[in-house]
Amino acid sequence: MASALIVLAAGLGTRMKSDLPKVLHEVGGLPLFAHAIASGTALEPERTVLVVGHGAEAVGKAAEGLDPAPALAVQGERLGTAHAVAQARAALEGFEGDAFVLYGDTPFISPETLERMAEARAAGHAVVVLGFKAADPGRYGRLVMSGDSLERIVEFKDALPEERAITLCNSGVVAADATTLFDLIDAVGNDNAAGEYYLTDIVAIARSRGLSATAVTCDEAETLGVDTRERLAEAEAIFQARARAEALDIGVTMQAPETVFFAHDTVIGRDVVIEPNVVFGPGVTVESGARIRAFSHLEGCHVGARAVIGPYARLRPGAELGNDTRVGNFVEIKNAILGDGAKANHLTYIGDAEVGARTNIGAGTVTCNYDGVFKYRTVIGEDAFIGSDTMLVAPVTLGDRAMTASGSVITKDIPAGGLGLGRAVQETKEGLGARIMDKLRARKAAKSKG
Ligand code: UD1
Repeated sequence: MASALIVLAAGLGTRMKSDLPKVLHEVGGLPLFAHAIASGTALEPERTVLVVGHGAEAVGKAAEGLDPAPALAVQGERLGTAHAVAQARAALEGFEGDAFVLYGDTPFISPETLERMAEARAAGHAVVVLGFKAADPGRYGRLVMSGDSLERIVEFKDALPEERAITLCNSGVVAADATTLFDLIDAVGNDNAAGEYYLTDIVAIARSRGLSATAVTCDEAETLGVDTRERLAEAEAIFQARARAEALDIGVTMQAPETVFFAHDTVIGRDVVIEPNVVFGPGVTVESGARIRAFSHLEGCHVGARAVIGPYARLRPGAELGNDTRVGNFVEIKNAILGDGAKANHLTYIGDAEVGARTNIGAGTVTCNYDGVFKYRTVIGEDAFIGSDTMLVAPVTLGDRAMTASGSVITKDIPAGGLGLGRAVQETKEGLGARIMDKLRARKAAKSKG
């Protein structure tokens, strides 16, 4: 059965107390709405519609970055969840199959849960609602069941005391044939306590038309909706706990997993060791056997097999480190390739550069890649030796086995096998050091007497 996703993301998110639309807040470095869309990919949707309203432009722009990008439907006025779903009608024109309604602020609905909902649809239920046993049912809508049949959903505001006593609650996630869903929504009114068009009303309407409805249940944790900063932090903690467990499960060693932070797309190979207090931003791949030492920060980079990174290393977007490379303390690498076995062990900045295999970059080396307006590349060949405290003023190219003298400012290319020496010539004055020191000490002694 073909499926489509309708992801509601028009809410105000007032309780986030943020200038950013609620669904753009991130968990694991990915906006909340993208998590919702990602959980729906298990259904291999033919179409995905994101219903935007508050902050539509910003949400739309972020959605463009997804592959595939969802269609956007704008809900001008926020008149309720049924009204929000109705906005997706045009984008689903001509679509035949099941529509799944998801929520842009609910990132953890599992693919398995959605598959179970699809199975319930395939078993012949016209409307399938995702419910959960709530520890504290609070203000959730309540599912009124009769055996396996879902008779109606009653919103807390409209519920009678005996209905409020029900603990089976509505997650809001719904699956139905798309045409049926829009037909049912057409019949939804807003004569209720909130004066809103409730999506939940489609259940009673379906039943009154002799259509069957049922509930599939999931763990309450899956239904966590993020509407405050506290919930956002809770969602991040859940995400991190899962990511750490997955990493351990595939053979990654972490001495203090609770101090390691992953992004939604971090890929770590087998037998990688991650020391305490390491942060992965989006877009990182680490190959087997590498070691990421304590207090390192990595984003948008690739770390080759058996490489050793850190402690205190910073790998920024575009850092491509070959196998067996070494990047030590207080080294920053951006948009640069390090060939296999290359080393930059101490206090260095390498940006917009290529460093050949086995080349050694001495302590304090800087690729001066920026003139305040333009950026330039530094290219260093294989087996080169860059002396400590070399300033490589880009654009500059150094051949294989080239050397630079420590403290040099290199502004011209160095051919293969050449030595670049660019520093003031030293003068040595016999005995002058000791004489100056004696004078200074004498001056100090005279001062303390007087
Ligand atoms: C809804 C359900 C409730 C369920 C709860 C689970 C209805 C009527 N009630 O209540 O049964 O227990 O979710 O969290 O559906 N939205 C829009 N446009 C709108 C209205 C809402 O995009 O016009 C989006 C919001 O961004 C939000 C979501 O839909 O993410 C839920 O809307 P909200 O009004 O907060 O519904 P609840 O009161 O939580």
